[in-house]
Amino acid sequence: MTLRVAIIGAGPSGLAQLRAFQSAHAQGAPMPEIVCFEKQADWGGMWNYTWRTGLDQHGEPVHGSMYRYLWSNGPKECLEFADYSFDEHFGRPISSYPPREVLWDYIQGRVKKAGVRDYIRFNTVVKNVSFDEHTREFTVSAHDYGAGVGIEQVFDYVVVASGHFSTPHVPAFEGFERFTGRILHAHDFREAMEFHGQDLLIVGSSYSAEDIGSQCFKYGARSITTAYRTQPMGYKWPKGWEERPQLVRVENDLAFFADGSNKRVDAIILCTGYQHHFPFLPDELTLKTNNRLWPAGLYQGVVWEQNPQLLYLGMQDLWYSFNLFDAQAWFARDYMMGRIKLPSRADMQADSKRWRAEEEGLETTASMYEFQGRYIKHLIGQTDYPSFDIDAVNRIFLQWKQDKKHDIMGYRDKSYRSVITGTKAVPHHTRWMQAMDDSLQEYLRETDGKKGEVKALRG
Ligand SMILES: Cc1cc2nc3c(=O)[nH]c(=O)nc-3n(C[C@H](O)[C@H](O)[C@H](O)COP(=O)(O)OP(=O)(O)OC[C@H]3O[C@@H](n4cnc5c(N)ncnc54)[C@H](O)[C@@H]3O)c2cc1C
Ligand SMILES: NC(=O)c1ccc[n+]([C@@H]2O[C@H](COP(=O)([O-])OP(=O)(O)OC[C@H]3O[C@@H](n4cnc5c(N)ncnc54)[C@H](OP(=O)(O)O)[C@@H]3O)[C@@H](O)[C@H]2O)c1
Repeated sequence: MTLRVAIIGAGPSGLAQLRAFQSAHAQGAPMPEIVCFEKQADWGGMWNYTWRTGLDQHGEPVHGSMYRYLWSNGPKECLEFADYSFDEHFGRPISSYPPREVLWDYIQGRVKKAGVRDYIRFNTVVKNVSFDEHTREFTVSAHDYGAGVGIEQVFDYVVVASGHFSTPHVPAFEGFERFTGRILHAHDFREAMEFHGQDLLIVGSSYSAEDIGSQCFKYGARSITTAYRTQPMGYKWPKGWEERPQLVRVENDLAFFADGSNKRVDAIILCTGYQHHFPFLPDELTLKTNNRLWPAGLYQGVVWEQNPQLLYLGMQDLWYSFNLFDAQAWFARDYMMGRIKLPSRADMQADSKRWRAEEEGLETTASMYEFQGRYIKHLIGQTDYPSFDIDAVNRIFLQWKQDKKHDIMGYRDKSYRSVITGTKAVPHHTRWMQAMDDSLQEYLRETDGKKGEVKALRG
């Protein structure tokens, strides 16, 4: 009987799963019956920007957390697909830190080439997944807003690829009820220009805090104050940006911090992270974790140990991203196709325990991306995903870290060499601090050497 596979989500993880099956099919393997359920009207997940916040046009929670003027925060050389290079997609070298629309274009290029769009049911939200212990089948219930119908379909495997940066973690602070300005979570941040001329308080000290602060600084906020709970980011901030310890309370427009200091602010952005949230899954199938490198309960970081017909992709904290999803998707494919056999549940759990113990012992930043690199190596060693030089990628991560330390507002002007093609990235035509237009068209505009003259490469 043909294998029946449901994929929940057509972001980079779900698309990696589609591409993995298509690549086996291109080499003669039978294609399973696949339905990829996608609640949005287009593919690309987080990279498919939406201006909407709160609820979408159907009354469903908006998935997107990306905002205008978002540029990659890591070198593209660290996430390049091993089977579809940036060179192949763009036909010429580009810079190392492209903006969102450029990366979205790249993600789409591979799956357009693979011809997998017809497997995706857009505008369709998975509402419930249940498992019948007797038949050992899943029933997936969804609502297709395009057709205006509820649907139910039976599958042998369910792959959860619904992402984990969409449901905000929103702590409350004393006095928020009476704060005179705007309070929002990073999930609802869309437009840095909104904060032009304002004194902005950002709570949190991770990537969202750093990047949203940088955006707002670049687009003219008067000052940025970031408040850390555990430790400061510690970069050499430009004039007008300071770090303070944890926010304690707010009184009208005054923010008070753990060191007793206070500051008047116009707006507060909570960059306090996200929750893994799977409202469509019953409790016994639900992954419960915080944002970390080795969530418990997933054999090889992918297979739900309590019911190995359920798989999760992309649930780890991300150093690596697109190539990590690929490694997982190829492993998941080979397991579902019977090419990889699972050990007993006890052995799976013992294996996961070893990875987890290793993860818990990681102390330095370098040890964390090296751990994730080892994990990817381990996965691709079991499949035919093209192998690539992960040690070289780790070295790019190290360089990236040093570049940020040296110049937090200028690191995106640096260039690195692709480990897939050997191509050295070229600097973008405009320095990041001056690049206000983040569109694909503007990005691909090429100067021809004569001052002021440009030619468009792609429309
Ligand atoms: C602000 C921000 C910036 C980021 N920047 C970078 C970056 O520069 N570089 C990088 O490598 N990574 C970045 N990331 C990480 C990003 O999450 C990953 O690159 C990637 O998008 C994860 O892919 P995914 O497919 O696992 O999840 P997502 O991209 O989140 O896709 C999940 C998909 O599942 C769909 N879905 C969810 N629930 C349902 C349901 N019930 N039914 C049907 N469909 C559903 C969603 O609509 C979505 O299309 C960023 C994340 C955020 C929040
Ligand atoms: N341009 C870009 O590419 C870009 C931009 C933004 C985000 N991203 C991506 O988005 C993902 C999520 O990043 P994120 O920064 O949103 O989440 P995150 O990395 O999980 O960090 C959450 C932050 O919130 C803080 N926090 C949580 N609860 C708090 C509380 N009660 N009080 C004060 N601080 C609190 C945490 O502090 P502690 O350290 O104390 O726990 C931490 O600093 C990452 O993969 C990142 O790469 C990318």
